[in-house]
Amino acid sequence: MVKALKLTKYGGPEALQWEDVEVGEPGEGQVRIRQNAVGLNFFDIYVREGLYPFPTPLIPGQEAAGVVTAVGPGVTDLKVGDRVAYAGGFGAYAEERLAAAATLVPIPSNIDDVTAAGALLKGCTAHMLLNCLHVKVGPGVKILVLAAAGGVGSLLCQWGSALGATVFGVVSTEAKAAQAKEDGAHHVLLQSEGDFAEKIKELTNGAGVDIVYDSVGKDTFMQALEALGPRGLIVCFGVASGSPDPVPLGLLTRKSLWLHRPILLHYTNTREDLLACAGEVFNALSSGIIKLRVNQKYPLAQAGQAQEDLKARKTTGSTVLLVDSA
Ligand SMILES: NC(=O)c1ccc[n+]([C@@H]2O[C@H](COP(=O)([O-])OP(=O)(O)OC[C@H]3O[C@@H](n4cnc5c(N)ncnc54)[C@H](OP(=O)(O)O)[C@@H]3O)[C@@H](O)[C@H]2O)c1
Repeated sequence: MVKALKLTKYGGPEALQWEDVEVGEPGEGQVRIRQNAVGLNFFDIYVREGLYPFPTPLIPGQEAAGVVTAVGPGVTDLKVGDRVAYAGGFGAYAEERLAAAATLVPIPSNIDDVTAAGALLKGCTAHMLLNCLHVKVGPGVKILVLAAAGGVGSLLCQWGSALGATVFGVVSTEAKAAQAKEDGAHHVLLQSEGDFAEKIKELTNGAGVDIVYDSVGKDTFMQALEALGPRGLIVCFGVASGSPDPVPLGLLTRKSLWLHRPILLHYTNTREDLLACAGEVFNALSSGIIKLRVNQKYPLAQAGQAQEDLKARKTTGSTVLLVDSA
């Protein structure tokens, strides 16, 4: 038996129950992993609260790093002792688990488990947003990152500015603004200063930005649209404040805007794409293009508290749940 956090019905942090679970032996195409570090993601809160009605009971958590301890039939490219990480599916909130070998990526020797667990999902998301959409980010491109001091936001600022873009950020506190600036954002706006679209217009001589990365959703969507210039792209990739209201097409027509709602899974659903995306993230970490800010660590058993702190906007950068201290 190992310990895991199980969700049997949607609710608050108390809905995550620290229980004994049987892991068993790996089946065809599976390996067993002893996990060391688990990445916390805002999606875990959506799952716990039932925003998306996944059938329960389930063990939440999408991202972790650990060591292969057993290999099932048909697995040829992994062996006992290999260090692996993953980003997707469920089942990460556990000391040990079974996982399909095809979903795992090897962790380079220069990257520790805490970094791998905190960076893979958020880093792949940042890579997808910056490099895989129809507008490529580079010199001369102006991007606006909402929640610029968050887990994904911090990586977007660093990577976006390294690609040569002019980076604008929006955050809620002075401390978060200081971090976003350190991460390469050229202009950081505080929400308390009022309508950020107006400020963006001023800063860009009325032109607006080319891309808005909006992970906040309901509270920011309309301002995000206003902040765009003609033919701009709004990328709604998260809904931390709730889902935006339905969008009349006429709103896009005014400036020939593009609206995109990407999900990482659709950019990494072949083995080739997954390995390529993870490779980009590990290379960016290794070369120093991005640096993971692990600003919070909690024992895995306290994932509920960690989620509450993320939801209450108390966190910055990445949060990692440690299995050893559970
Ligand atoms: N589409 C995909 O495939 C994909 C993949 C990964 C992540 N995501 C999305 O990316 C976003 C960022 O994820 P993360 O794990 O890195 O979280 P995060 O950005 O570290 O945390 C959320 C941040 O959103 C801001 N926020 C604004 N309004 C909020 C509200 N009403 N409630 C809570 N937070 C609010 C807060 O920053 P301020 O205090 O500065 O406003 C908060 O720190 C999430 O929306 C997540 O769903 C999407």
